[in-house]
Amino acid sequence: MTRVRIAGNGCLVLVLGLGLGLGSLPRCGAQEKAQTAPSKASMPWMNTSLDADTRADMMVKQMTIDEKIQLVHGSGWGVLRPGAVVPPGDIGGAGFVPGIPRLGLPDINLADSAVGIRGAARDSRYATLLPSVIGMASSWDPEAAHLYGSVIGRELRDEGFNMSIGGGVDLIREPRNGRNFEYASEDPVLAGNMVGQLAMGVQSNQVMGDIKHYVMNDQETGRNTLSAVISDKVMQETDLLAFQIAIKMAKPAGVMCSYNRINGVYACENKYTLTDVLKDEWGFKGFVLSDWSGTHSTVQAAMAGLDMQQPGDRYFGAPLKQAVLDGKVPQARLDDMVHRIVRSMIANGVVDNPPVPRVVDPFQGRRDARHIEEESLVLLKNEGGILPLSGSVKSIAIIGGHADEGVLSGGGSAQVDAPGGLPGGSKWGTAVYFPSSPMRYMKEQAADATVSFDAGTDVAQAAKAAAGAQVAVVFVTQWMSEGMDRPTLSLPGDQDKLVEAVAKANPNTVVVLETGGPVSMPWSGQVKGIMEAWFPGIGGGEAIANVLFGKVNPSGKLPVTFAAKDSDLPFEHVTGLTAETGNNGMDGNAAHGKEAKDFTVDYSKQGMLVGYKWFQVKDETPLFPFGFGLSYTSFAYSGLKVAPDATSASFEVKNTGEKAGDEITEVYATLPSASGEPFRKLVGFKRVSVAAGASDPVTVAIDPLYLKVFSTEKNGWEMLPGSYKIEVGGSSAALPLKEDVRVTK
Ligand code: BGC
Repeated sequence: MTRVRIAGNGCLVLVLGLGLGLGSLPRCGAQEKAQTAPSKASMPWMNTSLDADTRADMMVKQMTIDEKIQLVHGSGWGVLRPGAVVPPGDIGGAGFVPGIPRLGLPDINLADSAVGIRGAARDSRYATLLPSVIGMASSWDPEAAHLYGSVIGRELRDEGFNMSIGGGVDLIREPRNGRNFEYASEDPVLAGNMVGQLAMGVQSNQVMGDIKHYVMNDQETGRNTLSAVISDKVMQETDLLAFQIAIKMAKPAGVMCSYNRINGVYACENKYTLTDVLKDEWGFKGFVLSDWSGTHSTVQAAMAGLDMQQPGDRYFGAPLKQAVLDGKVPQARLDDMVHRIVRSMIANGVVDNPPVPRVVDPFQGRRDARHIEEESLVLLKNEGGILPLSGSVKSIAIIGGHADEGVLSGGGSAQVDAPGGLPGGSKWGTAVYFPSSPMRYMKEQAADATVSFDAGTDVAQAAKAAAGAQVAVVFVTQWMSEGMDRPTLSLPGDQDKLVEAVAKANPNTVVVLETGGPVSMPWSGQVKGIMEAWFPGIGGGEAIANVLFGKVNPSGKLPVTFAAKDSDLPFEHVTGLTAETGNNGMDGNAAHGKEAKDFTVDYSKQGMLVGYKWFQVKDETPLFPFGFGLSYTSFAYSGLKVAPDATSASFEVKNTGEKAGDEITEVYATLPSASGEPFRKLVGFKRVSVAAGASDPVTVAIDPLYLKVFSTEKNGWEMLPGSYKIEVGGSSAALPLKEDVRVTK
């Protein structure tokens, strides 16, 4: 099938085929530009034996002020807003910055790609939907995180994009935050390390990577105006630490500043976070780009450290040029912005080795997505060893969650188009199921069983369907999206009632959750099996079946605490979210126009106690603790030895069961009492594969930074002398090995 479309540049573009893998043809604007580029010999900055900074300096020296200004802002909303101009060379991502052909500098085509590339179907292109980032983090596997990013980088490149917009590493402070599926963890060490690997994976494809949303964008309600109240010390040791780890590890081209304010000042004009911390303290050499419409000023934003406005030019177009001419923004600052952008393009290979569009390999993408999901599934309950299900099971009643058709994905700018989805792409605010049916793959593995499906919409009818079967597997879902938070931890609709009724009707009930984050489970005592699949991605149906039937031994562990109820959380309600105010007015049931604005979210109440640290200090037992997850085998820990300076922990892990399995080993430290931080925190982890009956030695390195505290007086990190308690085990709440080490200065 052939569609004909008029591109924004007036060129005719033929878009061939629907569905899988057909690349769109290059637009004529891009071709015209390529023809005007001079030869490399006349451009000494194209000498690849010089370093990126030298080459960038040489190039910046050649630029006129107008060319410099052109590089520090996007060209408008493009394909994101119907009717907006799509300039020549823009290949349909969320952002576009035209290059300078006379200097051999290519355009920057940025695509949203938090969990896969957004909007690909618009041009009849295919993109792999990966499991959600929170799922990837549940693998605690740096290799899986790297693979995750490299799938994104590979496909971006195949589609002609040279910059990814993704890499969400905001801490999951608010378990009802609609974007938790784009983020990794409540713990900065886990989040930073996993998302750092992800961004490295993206950049390993010579595509520029990005880390976002910097910083304190920890809820969606009121995100455009809310002010996060937090001390520098607490922010450094919590949310900023996650960014620091990821940014130092990956050296991403871009860091996207967020919509919210921090202590009253917008994140995109906040000198403390952008310049003092990111650029000066951490030595970030890339560029800061604003979230879309997150720029609020010209001089203040430029002087605070913002390097690129997106998506338009309201502040960083003509007004910035005027501010430079008037001396309000020094020429050197504009040159620094441009240098950062150009050096990032050179350092990541997008100048010397630009992407060459070709067909995406959907099959490889699906295999990679399935592998990551298989490591990400978290088995939370397995009473009486109900799982794995035997291949000789006689009858299974599958209930709910559209499990006969596919798996749920998250919404907003992280939405990937389903294969064969509608031309024009998925609609913002609509739940999309991907064609990876858990039921189909479960049927394959239980070839002789009678498998029935009930949609779960009528509780009594579902209970009836469950009653007649040997096993009931209920799929429950919690759709989440940018632009909304869930008002409570409860599963939406009647799903709690559904599980209770099914469990009453069938003693062998297993629940599979497809959720964006933690949910409450008032029925957890009534079912035999519980498995968290998150938003499982395009390989999800198969991965779920593989774990349910034991082809794959589950190994994921929770990167977030599951509280039993909202009143156990530091904030019983999402700040600013009431029946009256709604979220951002984007969730359909909000009272539009009445959104809460300009309010503060006072994190000083919670201080350092994010996630499991809160539960520890309050001595409350969550429903499922951070770092918890079961296997079809069991592991025993012994023989802890901690290095005298506490920079490593060595121990043995024995697989005491009858199946080979992967164990995620976790190392926690409690700092000396002088720190005033009376809780254990994660300082290292390692995922190991152990054969049945075998015993393996494990050494986990501990980065000294994770043992330090941030001193406000010294404006830096310091290691306090004293006794450090190091604990090791398989969950934050089960740490059989302990040793105290005395560290002197
Ligand atoms: C989101 C960003 C996204 C941008 C561009 C914003 O609404 O917060 O995460 O990258 O849009 O689509």
